[in-house]
This record gives sequence, structure tokens and C-alpha cells, in this order.
Amino acid sequence: MVTETGNSIIHAAVLLLKGEIVAIPTETVYGLAANALNEDAVSAVYIAKERPYHNPLIVHLHSIKEIEKYVTDVPPAAHTLLKAFAPGPLTVLLPKKDIVPDIVTAGLPHVAIRIPAHPIAQALLKAVNLPLAAPSANRFSGISPTSVQHVQKHLDGIIPYILDGGMCDDGIESTVVGFENNTVVIYRQGAITEEQIKTALRDGVRVVHKTKTENNIAAAAPGMLHHHYSPDTPLLLTDNIHHCIAQYENEGKKIGTIRFDNIAKGIPLSKQIVLSAKGNMREAARNFYASLHYLDEMGLDVIICEYLPDYGLGKAINDRLKRAAAKHTAQVVQVMA
Ligand code: TXA
Ligand code: MG
Repeated sequence: MVTETGNSIIHAAVLLLKGEIVAIPTETVYGLAANALNEDAVSAVYIAKERPYHNPLIVHLHSIKEIEKYVTDVPPAAHTLLKAFAPGPLTVLLPKKDIVPDIVTAGLPHVAIRIPAHPIAQALLKAVNLPLAAPSANRFSGISPTSVQHVQKHLDGIIPYILDGGMCDDGIESTVVGFENNTVVIYRQGAITEEQIKTALRDGVRVVHKTKTENNIAAAAPGMLHHHYSPDTPLLLTDNIHHCIAQYENEGKKIGTIRFDNIAKGIPLSKQIVLSAKGNMREAARNFYASLHYLDEMGLDVIICEYLPDYGLGKAINDRLKRAAAKHTAQVVQVMA
């Protein structure tokens, strides 16, 4: 199959209405979209991504008003958060109506709903007037795509069309939240920070984290595996980057680095990424996946990353770095040996 790219919302809409799958821009990362009500189309998304069927998909809608078509209940805290952050990078888990096929939710009783803010995603959702199921447009457990080129790397020749919306503005995925009694549960940290969520909620609503791992895969957000978001190059995460660099240099290893706001001494500028020289967390998030894609293509032995300051979006980026590092812990030990 030849994969075309372009900015035709009509072309993307026609393909989706025919049951095809299309990569689409959102403000967080590119998504791989299908008509959420068409089981065959949704199945094609899992196949293209090589994603296990037990990992459910987010359903994208064009407005808050649409939500009631697909869920049986919107608790007060969900209302509050949607009012504050939709359209935007917030995903809410709500009890699903039967109209939502089980394949979308991997058989779970809740459906993940998001109203993307990206103008092209909005225009497309209005054009098709359908809910679009869309995971990030990368192969399973790979680095999420924030540009058309990143999508091409993973899915060229596998899908018919990539709708071009430029670089994604937020650069990391939506924050996934669920609701239990008087508690908001953060299942995936993302582009809306915990601080923002707490500020939006009225007093008395608790906010807790339940980040799931492979060890309890059946739990509420099954996609949160240890080894998500991984480059092929071994990735090492440290709070002392220069110590690590010295160790690997001694062994003659080819090193790339990622740091928040400062350069890493002794590493050629072409092999190191400073996520935001100004120390701006939003800019760091926007550059994050692109820097992993970039360094992963350089034939390095190891990418050494320093933890970001652990507040705001820094927490969400650190979470992804930990998962990227987890996949390679064994390999890193080998490289060091
Ligand atoms: O920003 C985003 O959320 C992007 C864009 C394209 O919208 N999408 C995205 O999708 O990141 P994906 O599939 O890569 O990650 C969705 C996360 C996974 O951790 C998945 O397990 C969780 O949301 N999820 C989806 N549906 C769920 C459900 N019904 N119950 C629990 N967790 C769910
Ligand atoms: Mg993903």
C-alpha cells in the first residue's frame, strides 16, 4: 500500500467513512483513527499498530455535548474537569453505553473519551460526524509520533493516508483520569498536570494515582506497561549525567544525551538534546518525543537522559523516560559489561 500525506480533511473523512484507518494530528501526538462504531475498522487499527487487543483505545469526539451518546453517566467531577479542559489533552474514563463496541474498550465497562483541541482534528470530527477511536500512531510500545515524519517511520506502506497538521503543540499524550466516589484517579500523567487538575476541582475531591504496570495488566489502564515509549537504542536514566557519561566514555561507547535546560559537557552538539534552554517545561514536552526519534536514528550505543525537575509536565516526561529506560535495563547492563 502507498501511504499518501496531505492536508485534505475531505480525503481523510472519505477514507474514514469507508472504514479505512487514517493518521491524524492532535495537539498531543498523532493518532491512528478509525470509525469507533465499525468493529472491522477498529480491528485494523490494532493490527496496523501490532497492538494487543487487551489494550483499549480512546474515543475522540468533537464536543462535550456528544459524550452522552456513548456513556451512561458523567459524574460531577468529570463535568468539572471537562468544563475546565475540553477541548484539550484530557481523557476521561466513563461507563460505556452498548453502542460502543467491546473491541474499543477491550471488553472493559468504561470507555475513554477525549475532545481534541487541534483545529484539524476538530474539523475532521465534525466532517465525519462519527466518534473516532485513535491510539497514538506508532507501532506498539514505540516512540509516540509528534510529526508526519514520525508517523511515516512506523506506518509507511501500512495505512492509506496521513493527515498533516504540522508538529504537535503539546508533544506528550493526554492525561487519563477515572472517577471513583469522591476521588479522581490519574491513570496516566500527561499534558494536563496534576496541579491543574487539583486547581480545577472543588475542595473535598481527592486526587490519587494508579499507574498500572505489566504486573497488574488487567487493572484500569492496561496500556501503562513498563516498557512503553521506547527507542531501539538502550536508554539510561540518571540524576548524575556527567558521572554516567564518564563511565561510558571510558569504554569507548557512542553516547547521545538528553537534558532539560543545560548542555552536557564533552558531548558533540549534534548528539545531545537540550529540551528547553529557557527552562520552559511546555517547550521541553513539545521537543521530548522528537528528540528520542532523532537520537534513536544516530546509531548510538546508549542515550543517557537526566531526570527533569519533578513538577508539572516534568513528572509526565519523567514517567515516560522511566518506561523507555525499563525496556533496556538489561541491554544497558550488557553495554556496560
Ligand atoms: O493524547 C492522547 O491521548 C493520544 C491522542 C491520539 O489522542 N492517544 C493516545 O492513545 O495516547 P494510546 O492508545 O496510545 O493511549 C491510551 C491510553 C492507554 O494507556 C490505554 O490503556 C488507556 O488510555 N485507555 C484507553 N481506553 C481505556 C479504557 N476503556 N479503560 C482504561 N484505560 C483506557
Ligand atoms: Mg500510545
